[in-house]
Amino acid sequence: MGKKVVVTGVPGVGKTTVVTGALEQLMDEGITYTSINFGTFMYEVAVREKIVENRDEMRKLDRTIQKRLQKEAAAGIAAASGTMNVIIDTHSSVKTPAGYLAGLPEWVLRELMPDVIVLVETDEDQILQRRLGDESRVRDMEGARSIAEHQQFNRSLAAAYAMLTGCTVKIVRNEDFLLDRAVREMADILR
Ligand code: AP5
Repeated sequence: MGKKVVVTGVPGVGKTTVVTGALEQLMDEGITYTSINFGTFMYEVAVREKIVENRDEMRKLDRTIQKRLQKEAAAGIAAASGTMNVIIDTHSSVKTPAGYLAGLPEWVLRELMPDVIVLVETDEDQILQRRLGDESRVRDMEGARSIAEHQQFNRSLAAAYAMLTGCTVKIVRNEDFLLDRAVREMADILR
C-alpha cells in the first residue's frame, strides 16, 4: 500500500513550491509520488459545468456547490490514487464569503484516509508579500491578522482530522530565504 500525504496551507504560503522541490530531491533516490491537486479536480468539473472562469472563483461559489465539487474530487482522487504513493495538494479550510469551509470533511477523509497531514506555514506578513507578488492568480487581499486567524483555524481542523482518521499532523515552516530547509523537511516526511 502506498503512502498518502495531504499537504495543506493558506493560499500563497508556497505549498506547491515546497512539494515540487521535495519531489525533485526524492527522484534522485528513486522514490516516486503521484502529485494530485485537489483544486484542479474540482476546477475541471466546474469548468465543464461553466460555473467558473478561474480557479480562484471556486471559493466564492455557493456552499452546496462547493461541497458537491469537493465530493466529486475526493471520489475521483481515491479512484486515481490506487496503491501508489500520493501527495494531495489541498486546503485544511477554504475561506469563503460565508465563513471557513472544511477542506477535508468526513466524507472527503473517508475517501482519502491520509497517513499524514502536512500544514505548510510561515509568518503572515510573508504570505501577504507573496500574494502581492503573484500576478498569475486572483488572490484574496486580506490583512495579516486575518491570515493569522486562517492559519490558526487550519491547525484546529487538522487536529480534528487526526482524531477522525488516526493520521499524524506535521507542521513545515516555509520562511523567506529558507525554502531549502522546508524542502528538506518535506522530503523527510515523504521518505
Ligand atoms: P489551490 O490550487 O490549492 O490554490 P492555492 O491555495 O492558491 O495554491 P497555490 O498552489 O497557488 O498556492 P501555494 O500556497 O501552494 O503557493 P505557491 O507554491 O504557488 O486551490 C484552488 C482552489 O481550489 C481553492 O481556492 C479552493 O476553492 C479549491 N479547493 C482546493 N482544495 C479544496 C478542498 N479540499 N475543499 C474545498 N475546496 C478546495 O507559492 C506562492 C508564491 O510564494 C510563489 O510566488 C512562490 O515563488 C513564493 N514562495 C514560495 N516559497 C517561498 C519562500 N520560501 N520564500 C519566498 N517566496 C516563496
